[in-house]
Amino acid sequence: MENQKQLFRYESLAKELETKIKNGTYRSGDKLPSIREFHHHLNLSISTVYKAFIELEAVGLIEARPKSGYYVSPPQPVLRKPVFIRRDAEPRKVDLSSVAQSIHNAIGNPEILPLGGAIISPELFPYKHFSRIVKGISANEMKTLMAYAPGRGIFELRRQIAMRTVGIFGKIDADDVVITNGCMEALALSLQAVVRPGDTIAIETPTFFTILRLLEELGVYVLEVPTDPRYGVDPDELDKVIAKNDIKACLFMPNFQNPLGALMPDSSKKRIVEMLNRENIPIIEDDIYAELYFGKKRPGTMKKYDAKGLVMSCSSFSKTLAPGLRIGWILADEPLRERVQKLKSVISISSSNLDQYVMSKFLESGGYDRHLRSLRKALNRQVLSMASSIQKHFPHNTRLAIPEGGAFLWVGLPGGIDGLTVFEKAMENNIAVLPGIACSASDRYKSYLRINCGYPFLEPVEEGIAILGQIIKSITC
Ligand SMILES: Cc1ncc(COP(=O)(O)O)c(C=O)c1O
Repeated sequence: MENQKQLFRYESLAKELETKIKNGTYRSGDKLPSIREFHHHLNLSISTVYKAFIELEAVGLIEARPKSGYYVSPPQPVLRKPVFIRRDAEPRKVDLSSVAQSIHNAIGNPEILPLGGAIISPELFPYKHFSRIVKGISANEMKTLMAYAPGRGIFELRRQIAMRTVGIFGKIDADDVVITNGCMEALALSLQAVVRPGDTIAIETPTFFTILRLLEELGVYVLEVPTDPRYGVDPDELDKVIAKNDIKACLFMPNFQNPLGALMPDSSKKRIVEMLNRENIPIIEDDIYAELYFGKKRPGTMKKYDAKGLVMSCSSFSKTLAPGLRIGWILADEPLRERVQKLKSVISISSSNLDQYVMSKFLESGGYDRHLRSLRKALNRQVLSMASSIQKHFPHNTRLAIPEGGAFLWVGLPGGIDGLTVFEKAMENNIAVLPGIACSASDRYKSYLRINCGYPFLEPVEEGIAILGQIIKSITC
């Protein structure tokens, strides 16, 4: 009852119809009453009924037929989940150079349908609010902002970030925050604080393409820990890895992992931190997608269980507000915080004063939580629409899991089809996808794709998925 009260009217109607479709009251192929009929009978506005229909259409339960109305969709074959590959690995150097550059150029090209990059559409960000803040900067304020910012970041921004950590990270205040140029600099500084060329670090597999490229540049060995597509790093597998290898650090994304979308249960986070704390192994936690949850609350962190000050938690506003402002941060304890600050001071001196000011003004204004609520809803809808379109257009033996947050789908191609071939053929059609081979130092994800759901599910996206489906089917045959 309590929940019922909090729903918008369109959500209540969508829920009621969803229940009626799922319990068979409405069957596949049945025509739904028209928007006007619902409007008259239920005393709801036209736009409320329309929104409910759009919601159901987005998740594939109903479909619009031109000039006829809305119908219950035919049952979709349920795709099976990607498999958990429990293959043991040896430390190895990353060598992505042969494929990396062409993939990187392709997925960043703005002319191409952006299903490849890890990008959220700027349409989903509060750019008008940011524009008002920038217009309100006086000449005197600008004079101050043209100077270098303090090395660890401006106090007000660090304070705003620290305020958001209550109950999630353990004890963090403004002094525990170091501002960086995006999450990528946060990860690079944290890694450089604890590893040297030739060291071995444990990572998830598959993992984020740019992290692999960074590890390649740092000249370290990587050990890919078997990772469950739904629950992230398996603590038992990690236990075996640290018993057999001299691991100098671990880099994990416990919340909505890129590319899997996996969410590590809090019990695994706790077990892994306790295990690594015992062995004095530092952890670099990439928490960049945590705010993009579709459930009721933000997932927890590894940092929360860190009794020894060995977890450096990295994040940024790139997936929630403004990747172009390049504002990220590290939450760390002494002495690691001192170490990353020193590195930051010689690598980039400080982050942009102006960008930090604009971001802190936005956070101060109190609009962030409201924005996050609508962003999460939009992304959830986009992920579900994309998944239902993949079900419709890809072969039935494709593998796919629906994540509980984030913006990606990790797709297992049928019959061992090479993802790189799909990537190349998709590029000929101006569609970018990320082939799985770019997500590992080994070739074990040759037959996977990562698909970005960061853009509204409009006609070009649906058409792009249909073309991808045809490409895959043409290779299968
Ligand atoms: C897992 C992960 N970490 C880090 C980054 C980089 O973030 P930023 O743009 O803040 O440097 C990304 C961006 O796609 C990402 O997906």
